[in-house]
Amino acid sequence: MSAGARLPVVVLISGGGTNLQALIDAQRADDCPYAVAAVVSNRPDAFGLERAARAGIPTETVDHTRFPDRAPFEDALAAAVDRHAPGLVALAGFMRILTPAFVARYRGRMLNIHPSLLPRFRGLHTHRRALEAGEMVHGATVHFVTEELDGGPRILQAQVPVHPDDTPEVLAARVLAREHRIYPLVVRWFAAGRLRLGAAGAELDGATLTEPLQLDALPDA
Ligand code: GRF
Repeated sequence: MSAGARLPVVVLISGGGTNLQALIDAQRADDCPYAVAAVVSNRPDAFGLERAARAGIPTETVDHTRFPDRAPFEDALAAAVDRHAPGLVALAGFMRILTPAFVARYRGRMLNIHPSLLPRFRGLHTHRRALEAGEMVHGATVHFVTEELDGGPRILQAQVPVHPDDTPEVLAARVLAREHRIYPLVVRWFAAGRLRLGAAGAELDGATLTEPLQLDALPDA
């Protein structure tokens, strides 16, 4: 697909950016319907900025510590995002809570990846909490972003087993490897026009997803 025909995606990060890397790697496919147009970080030291630079992708930093409160930070963040005219905004380890006003601006065109099988374990420290709860299965979810933190319509999940001797770090790594499969897939669906946020939830190929799809059950997984 020619570069101009690809949907521009702006990726928001705060850290290492391995999900960003997965999105960058996947766009090397000739038929990839999206292109990462820019990477925006709220942290100047985020390693993901380096990953973007190496791939020749423009970067912007909007350092939240330089703003007196959330409203002017989000104004600057929106200006940075909008400079790159995204068709989709992908949160990938972006660690700032966004206000309803910011979320509304990108309604239906903002995705997030969360390291748990939502609705289990919204918020932080999901791997530790899954271990403490004695879960035998854990995983990750890609969902549309709505005003409800980690509560927007779920699209695709990947499950991993929890082993008896797992530490949060070991479990996180197992989940992360699966995150790198599901995020590019969902971004592809959106960019290809197959996925949208409908009145009753996420819709794939015109059908509302009453439950999230599971990676292992996809025909081409
Ligand atoms: C991932 O586990 C993601 O699900 C969560 O933050 C982590 C980011 O990792 N939201 P990375 O920066 O993509 O490596």
